[in-house]
Amino acid sequence: MNRYRNEKRLLHGGDYNPDQWLDRPDILAQDLEFMRLSHTNTFSVGIFAWSALEPEEGKFQFEWLDKIMDDIYAIGGNVILATPSGARPAWLSENYPEVLRTDSNRVKMLHGGRHNHCFTSPIYREKVQIMNRKLAERYHDHPALLMWHISNEFSGECHCDLCQEAFREWLQKKYSTLEELNRVWWTPFWSHTYTNWSQVESPSPIGEGGVHGLNLDWRRFVTDQTIDFYEHETTDLRRLSPDVPITTNFMADTHDLIPFQSLDYSKFAKHVDVLSWDCYPAWHNDWDTTATLASKVGFINDLYRGMKQQPFLIMESTPSGVNWHDVNKTKRPGMHLLSSLQLVAHGSDSVMYFQWRKSRGSSEKFHGAVVDHDCSTANRVFKDVTSVGQVLEQIASVKGTNKQADAAILFDWENHWALEDAQGYGKETKQYPQTLQEHYRALWELDVPVDVITKENDFAKYKLLIVPMLYMMSKETMRRLQEFTKNGGTVISSYITGVVDEHDLVYQGAWPEELQEIFGINVLETDTYYPKDHNHLSYGNQIFTINDYCAIIEAKGAQVTGTYEEDFYAGTPAITTNQYGDGKGIFMAPRTEFAFLQHFYKQLVDEVGLVNQWVEVGNPVVSVQERADEEVCYQFVMNFSEDPQQIKVKQSGMDLVSGEGTSMEMTLKPYEVKVVKIEK
Ligand code: GLA
Ligand code: GLA
Repeated sequence: MNRYRNEKRLLHGGDYNPDQWLDRPDILAQDLEFMRLSHTNTFSVGIFAWSALEPEEGKFQFEWLDKIMDDIYAIGGNVILATPSGARPAWLSENYPEVLRTDSNRVKMLHGGRHNHCFTSPIYREKVQIMNRKLAERYHDHPALLMWHISNEFSGECHCDLCQEAFREWLQKKYSTLEELNRVWWTPFWSHTYTNWSQVESPSPIGEGGVHGLNLDWRRFVTDQTIDFYEHETTDLRRLSPDVPITTNFMADTHDLIPFQSLDYSKFAKHVDVLSWDCYPAWHNDWDTTATLASKVGFINDLYRGMKQQPFLIMESTPSGVNWHDVNKTKRPGMHLLSSLQLVAHGSDSVMYFQWRKSRGSSEKFHGAVVDHDCSTANRVFKDVTSVGQVLEQIASVKGTNKQADAAILFDWENHWALEDAQGYGKETKQYPQTLQEHYRALWELDVPVDVITKENDFAKYKLLIVPMLYMMSKETMRRLQEFTKNGGTVISSYITGVVDEHDLVYQGAWPEELQEIFGINVLETDTYYPKDHNHLSYGNQIFTINDYCAIIEAKGAQVTGTYEEDFYAGTPAITTNQYGDGKGIFMAPRTEFAFLQHFYKQLVDEVGLVNQWVEVGNPVVSVQERADEEVCYQFVMNFSEDPQQIKVKQSGMDLVSGEGTSMEMTLKPYEVKVVKIEK
C-alpha cells in the first residue's frame, strides 16, 4: 500500500488508452504535456489493451507499456495498472470458443463487444492468469505503480454447460441434499420437484423462471462466481506486489442512479482493498431538479463509502457529457467543479475521468474527455478540468479524512432482487431503492450526515437506523434490530417489511413476533393502489397525501401518531411509535408524499439529537457535508441550484477554494461550492 498510502495528493486523472495511438508518437508526447498542464496526476492504463499486449497467442509486447509507465513516472504521475480481461483479442475467442458467453436463452454469443467472457471457463481463467502474471512480474516494483485495477465493471452472467455444472456444485455445497433444495425452493408448486441434481438449470425465459428460490440463488451464485473470477485474477498480483492495493470499478444503474442491481456489492466490497466506482449522473436532465439529483448522488456515494467505512475512489466520471444517456448534455459552467467536489465531500479521495482523450473512431468517440478532438488546451472542458485540478491541490489535506454519521439507511441487494421478483403489489411501484433515496433526501436537505449501509455492517454505532421495505428479512436480522433498539437505538420501518425469510419463503402465522415486539403492532393486510388512487394521512394537525401502498395494521402497545383518513380502514393507525427497551420502533404503514418525510424527519432529528451542529439556518438546495480528522474539519458547502442561495452557520473559517475567510452568513452563487476549513 506504500505508494498509495504515501500519496499526499487527491487523485486526479483518468482512463488513458495510449494503446489506441501507438503509431502516433506526437499524440503520446502531447498527452504528457497536457497531463502536466491540466493538473492531473493519476492514469488508469491498459484496461482494454490485451490486443496490444499479446497480439498473437503467446507473443507478448510490453515495450510500449514500459515507456508509458516510465514517462508518466517522469512527470510525477501515478499509474493504476489494469488487467485487460474486460475485453479479449479475437484470436482468443477464435481458438477457444468456450470463453464466449452463453445467454439465458442458451444462445452462444459471437466474438465482439466487451465484458462478455464466461466467468467459469478454465481456459479464460488460465489465459487471464498468464497475462496478469506477466504484468505483475514486469511492473510489481515499478515506481509509478499505485494500484491494480482488475478487469473493468464486472457484470453479466453466463449459462453455458460449464456454468450449469458450477451452479449445481454451488447448490450442493449450500444445501447438501436435494430434499433440502426442494424444501427451500418450494418445488412441489407446479410439480417442479427435482429428483436428480442434473435436472437443475439456471433460470431461463425458455425454461424455469417462476421458482423464486432458484432465481435468488442464481443471483447469489453469479455474485460468488464473479468474485471467484476476480480473486483468481489477483493471485499473482498479491503474491508479487503484496503492498499494492487492488480494486475493481463498481457501477450504478441509471437513470435514478440506484445501486448496480446485478451483483451484490455488499459481498464484493470485502474483496477490494479500496472501493472504487464509476459515477455518471445526468446533470441538467429533464426529470430531476439539480438538488434532487444531487441528493441521489449523495445517497449512492454514502453507500459506496459506508460499506467499507473508509474513503473510496471515483474511478470514472465525465468532465462534460457522456455518449450513452438518451440526451447527452454537457455540463453547464460551474457544474464540473461543483459535481467533482461533491464526490470528495462524500468521501472520495479522487476525481478520475473516463476518458483522458477522445478516440477518433468507434462507439465512444463522442464521449466526454479531458482532451477533445481539437487537441487543444483552450477549450472550456480542458480549462474546467484544469481548475478542478488546481482546487484538488488546494484541498489536498482532505485526503484520508473520513465522514462521521449517527444515522444509517440500510440497503439490501438480496431484498431488492426478491422484491422485484415478487409477483404481487404493484408492478411499477415497488421502487425500493428510490424509496430509500427519498428518506435519504429528507435528511440530506437537513444536512444530517448519513451512512448508507448493508446488513454486513455493524448497526451498534448508530443512533438512528432507517429500514423501510425490507421485504426479505432473516430472523437473524430481526434479532439484530431488536438488539439495536433495546440498546437505545431508534429504528424506522414501513409497509412491505418482514414478509419472507432468506429463502424467499413467506413467514407463517402473524407478522413475525420479533418485529411485533419492536414496533408494538401487527400487520394485517397490504393494500395496493393504482397511480390515480390516494388516501390521506392525518398526522398532528396536518394532512398528507398517501400513494401506492397502505399497510393495514393494529396497534398492540404502540402509540398511534397518525391515522388513515379514507377507505375502509379510515381512522385506523398509519404511523406508530413504540418504546422497546431503551429505544424506539417507528412504523410508517403507508407510502406518503415527500412532504411528510420532510416534516417527520425535521422533528425526529431534533428528538434523536442528529441536528447538524455547524449549520444555524440551512437551505434545502444547499448541501453541507463534513469530512474531518482529530484536528481539522472541512465543511463542503454546495449550492445545487440555478439561483444564489444563503445559509447561516455557527463558525467562520477559511474557504480553500477561493482562499478567502468565510463569515457566518454565506451567500453562494449558482452552483458555487466552498470548502471551509475549521481548526477544531
Ligand atoms: C389460472 C390458473 C391457476 C392460477 C390462477 C391465478 O386460473 O388456472 O392455476 O395460476 O390463474 O390467477
Ligand atoms: C464505463 C466504462 C468505460 C466507458 C464509460 C463510458 O464506465 O468502464 O470504459 O465505457 O463507461 O461512460
